[in-house]
Amino acid sequence: MSELNKIALKIISNGKGILAADESNGTMTKRLEAVNVASTPENRLLFRETLFSSESMKKYIGGVILYDETINQTTNFGKSIPDLISSSGAIPGIKVDTGTKSLANSSEEKITEGLDGLRERLNKYYKLGARFTKWRGVYTISNKYPSKLSINSNAHALARYSALVQESKMVPIVEPEVLMDGEHSADICLKKTSDVIKKCFDELILHKVDLSGIILKPNMILSGNQSKDQISNEDISQKTLECLKNSVPIEVPGIAFLSGGQSEIEATKNLNLINQNNNTRFIMTFSYGRALQQSALRIWSKNIKDIKATQNTFNHRAKMCSLAAQGKWSNELENK
Ligand code: G3H
Repeated sequence: MSELNKIALKIISNGKGILAADESNGTMTKRLEAVNVASTPENRLLFRETLFSSESMKKYIGGVILYDETINQTTNFGKSIPDLISSSGAIPGIKVDTGTKSLANSSEEKITEGLDGLRERLNKYYKLGARFTKWRGVYTISNKYPSKLSINSNAHALARYSALVQESKMVPIVEPEVLMDGEHSADICLKKTSDVIKKCFDELILHKVDLSGIILKPNMILSGNQSKDQISNEDISQKTLECLKNSVPIEVPGIAFLSGGQSEIEATKNLNLINQNNNTRFIMTFSYGRALQQSALRIWSKNIKDIKATQNTFNHRAKMCSLAAQGKWSNELENK
């Protein structure tokens, strides 16, 4: 078993998943202002250290994805953020893409940037304690999109990123996110997501990436959020499994879904059914941002000094996601 495979398995095994707390300062400012909290470095740190020092970190969270500002911060009780995360047994990770720009010659689509100087930044993050990384490619669905240009160029960037990350002895999370925005059916999402994922693996293989030392972070297969034709949670789980079974090589140790705008309960319910129906050899878990933090953020915003109330809310959500990652979640446990 390679070192990278061991790290990947430690992050996603035994009902553990990933807390995606890597919102850029721009995104975090939107989230904080939506609940009337000022987006200062101190407040961003306080919310995040409140989550990272929660009891649930030890039992349910295998890895935390950080943003550059956070990995460099020291907690109010004097520990570095990576040390705080490691002390709970979880592994610190870091988002290393630098965001999306409009794709030349297909300007309604996006290309993710951040390859220039990446090797040097990876060395710096490794020294700060990171052992895994994230890069997100973004794709939209419409009649014309995602274009071949977007599918190929984002896959190429994800592969070049992954090869550099493994060279730096860290596990790359490969995140091709096909957005849920639009009126499309779930079958269109299935077809387009499959095309996107297959192309990512073509490029990863071409770039000699060790597939046993990555984690795939895809979207679930959903109808577009404007579609009148919404499908059941059972169908979401079946179509998601069909997509991954047919497009992910068996060497990949596991899949950690993004929540992508689903509510906390929907994201939990769907992951639970995916695990109950899992007919693949992949571990299926969560790498949620909003679906792990939304309620905790709401509670925290009422009184940012009430650490306990925020942690209780986060502990419950993390526990529910962990149960779903084992196919053991139920409505009764959710409402207990
Ligand atoms: O890149 C996206 C995040 O890591 C996951 O966030 O679960 O809110 O979609 P989300």
